[in-house]
Amino acid sequence: MLGVQPGIVDPGGDDAIEDVIEAPFVSIDDFLPLADAERLRAGIDGHFAEPNKHEAGRHQVWNYWYVPQLYTYLRTTPEKVIPQPAVMRFYQALSVYAREVLGLGHVTWPNLSLYVDGCEQQLHNDSANGRLGYVYSLTRDARKTIGGETIVLKEGDLFRGNLRQAAAGWGLYDLIEPRFNRLAIFDDRMPHGVRRVEGSMDPVEGRLVLHGHISEQGPSAEGPVPAVAIGSAIDAALAVLLGELAEAPGGHHGPLTIRITIGASGRVERLQPLLNRVARDDGLPAGEAVARALAAIRCLSWPASATSTEATIPILFGGKLPWMEKA
Ligand SMILES: [Fe+2]
Repeated sequence: MLGVQPGIVDPGGDDAIEDVIEAPFVSIDDFLPLADAERLRAGIDGHFAEPNKHEAGRHQVWNYWYVPQLYTYLRTTPEKVIPQPAVMRFYQALSVYAREVLGLGHVTWPNLSLYVDGCEQQLHNDSANGRLGYVYSLTRDARKTIGGETIVLKEGDLFRGNLRQAAAGWGLYDLIEPRFNRLAIFDDRMPHGVRRVEGSMDPVEGRLVLHGHISEQGPSAEGPVPAVAIGSAIDAALAVLLGELAEAPGGHHGPLTIRITIGASGRVERLQPLLNRVARDDGLPAGEAVARALAAIRCLSWPASATSTEATIPILFGGKLPWMEKA
C-alpha cells in the first residue's frame, strides 16, 4: 500500500531522485513507537471508561458534526480526551516527518474523530484546506465494527479511462484501512471520504483517528547560506517559468518540494525532489514543467562559504492556498 513510486524524469544530473513521492496517497504502518500509540489509545479508553461516573468535564466534549448527505461523525479537540503530552508527541513526530520526508513545514493541530455505527464521510476534496491530508488511526485492529476505510478515488478520468473495460470497487478507488498506528497521507485535492461504519455503537469499537492537513511554510536551511537567500534566488529563477505556465493552456497546479545541498563553492551539489504532486488541468503529464524547474535551480549559485548548506524548499505551481493568500 505504500504509495512511493519511481522517480520523475531526471533532467541530466546524477542526483538520487528515486525516493520522490508522486503517488496520490502514502500509508505508513507503525508510524509511532508502539508505547506512544498505546498511550494515545489509553487516553481514549480511559475517557470512555465507567460512563455512569462521568461528570460534565468528560461528557460534554464531543461535537456531533452532521451535514446532511455529506458528514456524519463525532469530533473534538484531542487534548479533551487524551493527555496533552501524548498528543504533542504525535504532533512533533508528524511535523518531523512532514518536514524531512515531504518537505512541507506546516502541520495543523489534529482533530480527534470518532465513527460509530452509521457514521461516514461522503466524497469531497480539501483543495482549499491544505496540500496533503493526514489520518492517523487509533482504531483497534480487532473491533466489533466494519467499514471506516478512507476512500481515495483513483487519479485520472474514471469515465474516459474505462470506456472499453468493466471497472468496479477497487478499480475506481483505493481503500485505506484504519489500522492501529497507521498514518495515511493523501493529496488534499483527491476526492476522498470515509466508508460508513457499521456494527457496534460502543465508541471504543469505532473508528478513532487523529487528522488534519499539511502544507508549505517557506524555505528552511541549515548552514551558512540563509534560507531566505536560497528561497528568493529560486523564486527569481522560476518567476518566468511559473508566469508562463499560469498563462498557458493546461494549467499546472500543486507542490514540488526539494532538498538542495549548496556546496562551499556556492554551487548546487545535490538536488533531491521530495514530493512531486504537480498536476495539469487538462490531465496531461506535468513532467516537462517540473524538469524545467529543476534544471533552472540546478544552474543557480550563491557566494562561496566555509561549509555546505542544506535547504528544503517548497515550490508551488499555481500559487498559494486561498487561506494563505488572506493570511
Ligand atoms: Fe477531507
